[in-house]
Amino acid sequence: MRVLLGGMSLGEKVGQLNLLAGAMDVTGMRDSGDLEGKVLSGECGAVFNVYTAGATRALQELALRSRQGIPLIFGYDVIHGHRTIFPHPLGLSCSWNLGLIERCARAAAVEAAADGLHWVFSPMVDISHDPRWGRVAEGAGEDPWLGSKIAVAMVRGYQGEDLADPAAVVACVKHFALYGAPLGGRDYHTVDMSRRAMEETYFPPYRAAIDAGARTVMTSFNEIDGVPASGNRWLLTELLRGNWGFTGWIVTDYTAVSEMKCHGTAGTDGDAARQAIEAGVDMDMVSEAFAGELPELVKSGAVDEALIDAAVMRVLETKWDLGLFADPFARCDEAKAAAVMLSGQTRQLAREAAREAMVLLKNDNSLLPLSKDLKVALIGPLGESRRDMLGCWIAAGDEAHAVAPLEGIRAVLGERGQVSFAPGCEVNDANAEWLGQAIEAANQADLVILTLGESWQMSGEAASRTDIRLPMCQRDLARQILETGKPCVLVTLSGRPLDLSWEDSAFGAILHAWALGTEGGHALAEVLFGDAAPVGKLTMGFPRSVGQLPMTYREKPTGRPFDPASAYTSKYLDSPNTPLFPFGHGLTYGEFHCSAVSIDAAEMSAGGVIQVSLVITNIGKVAATESLQLYLRDLVASVSRPVKELRGFQRVTLAPGEARTVAFAITDADLAFPGRDLLPVVEPGEFEAMIGVSSAVFQSVRFTRLDAAV
Ligand code: NOJ
Repeated sequence: MRVLLGGMSLGEKVGQLNLLAGAMDVTGMRDSGDLEGKVLSGECGAVFNVYTAGATRALQELALRSRQGIPLIFGYDVIHGHRTIFPHPLGLSCSWNLGLIERCARAAAVEAAADGLHWVFSPMVDISHDPRWGRVAEGAGEDPWLGSKIAVAMVRGYQGEDLADPAAVVACVKHFALYGAPLGGRDYHTVDMSRRAMEETYFPPYRAAIDAGARTVMTSFNEIDGVPASGNRWLLTELLRGNWGFTGWIVTDYTAVSEMKCHGTAGTDGDAARQAIEAGVDMDMVSEAFAGELPELVKSGAVDEALIDAAVMRVLETKWDLGLFADPFARCDEAKAAAVMLSGQTRQLAREAAREAMVLLKNDNSLLPLSKDLKVALIGPLGESRRDMLGCWIAAGDEAHAVAPLEGIRAVLGERGQVSFAPGCEVNDANAEWLGQAIEAANQADLVILTLGESWQMSGEAASRTDIRLPMCQRDLARQILETGKPCVLVTLSGRPLDLSWEDSAFGAILHAWALGTEGGHALAEVLFGDAAPVGKLTMGFPRSVGQLPMTYREKPTGRPFDPASAYTSKYLDSPNTPLFPFGHGLTYGEFHCSAVSIDAAEMSAGGVIQVSLVITNIGKVAATESLQLYLRDLVASVSRPVKELRGFQRVTLAPGEARTVAFAITDADLAFPGRDLLPVVEPGEFEAMIGVSSAVFQSVRFTRLDAAV
């Protein structure tokens, strides 16, 4: 690689740091113009938004004809599947099933690699406490501990054991850093955060992904402490490379280098390019500020060429590890592509993932599952929609292959099924004629399934909302259908947690179905009619209203904890503090009883292990699955600690009458936190361990930690 570098002109070196966008998809504000010409002249080292064996082969051939003949690397936003689409990441995270999540990432990698790709812009590991931010759909929710585990599973799934395997792709951890905390939940808005919040809440998933071997990191659009991430030397060089030991390459987000001019921290593209390369950025996505400015900056002595050499080496090494120099066309095989895309096995996996992503929010009087013998009216604007089932960021996914709720219900009910459909309204607009038809359909049926929620454009990038209730026309439709007096279950689809306060007061059963992907309709119908039971648990709480946002179950205690008997305690005048549906919540069709929690010792020393356990019994009539969660609290510490933090979970499936002891082992790692100097510490004192079925329903026990550890 060094020899190759030695023979490259400055322009060719800078070309390797230039990531350009093709036109097969549009994911940002400007395109890259004359892509072919730039590839042929060696001015471009990487391309995204171009896929298929044919299209990538054609560009790769041009790259090989450039003077250095260095192969291109092809990237793409493969966020939750490539052609087979899995539930969007927030939905899939609700499975709490790390093996399943890893298998989905692996299957996405296999399809992406067969379509000519080497690099996926995933996992998105930004923690967020604010569902107004539309991009919560792309992450794993509000919790850093679970988010870290999911980040690791995804990196493993994408990269596999060996990048040279033609079915492996390079992962890109994004958006570094803090992108999930924009003020007011408004996308691209500024972020203002303490170092402690970064360390305790926002950094852990990025770090976990990097420790798992993720080869690339994407910078975020926002500033950190006044300095945009893409020009932030503290963030990229001191912390990421220095403290965390990251050795891969750092790419910016779309035009983030030139956006430093809008942030007001760079006057010109040259200024921005210099700040970015000096901060530690290796590759410029689409701004072409590196390509346009770095050669002059080096010639004038303003930028040290050694910085560019180091960045180029990082890019070349990954290309080498991917096997691109050995066989640049290993991932452009049409026959292989035809064989792997949307295979029966991958669709089966997508169905399994969709089943596990759904969260049963409430089910009064066991309204669900439904009998297959009833006459059903499916009502709502999303009932027949395949596209909305796929959600945002669908890579090369195609709604033609997706299954809408109505199709899934028809398939599950088969010949004897009696199901009618009426949209009732548009997603965002009323329609008087459709409303009349929907009321008529309800009157003719024994039971109504209302499918309401967001269209796919209402979450994802640039899709923040200030009102996260169902659109008014859909709430009106729901009211009118309820007035028919027919039994009615509500299915909600969305990319974000919604404010379902009114729906909670009006409906006995609510199943939250996110955007479930290609096999969504089938999985939804299986759960509605009892062929499968819901197992999902929320990874982000549903608020009672936007007024509570941002919110998290991991909140810090205050000096005035809420006390209903005292006015001067922390509360709202018009709302409880708690979420409507908390983190960790999710019902199933069974019934369980949990014993009191027991603990195997009252005290724990450094390096020791303490076990907390309970006995869970299936007291229902059917086999059922429950996920038990372990939360911890450090009651007195040198800095205030969250009122509870997730530290473990276990899923158990029990036959009727069966009982099992579920035990969690607590070690030093579970008790550690960033001390006053922000370095990890375990402090002696009293701890509370809680085991529950959600962050709000649990039983607790206390133990004493005898000594400190660092
Ligand atoms: C902007 C988004 O923030 C990022 O997540 C994505 O990977 C890039 N555009 C490329 O499409």
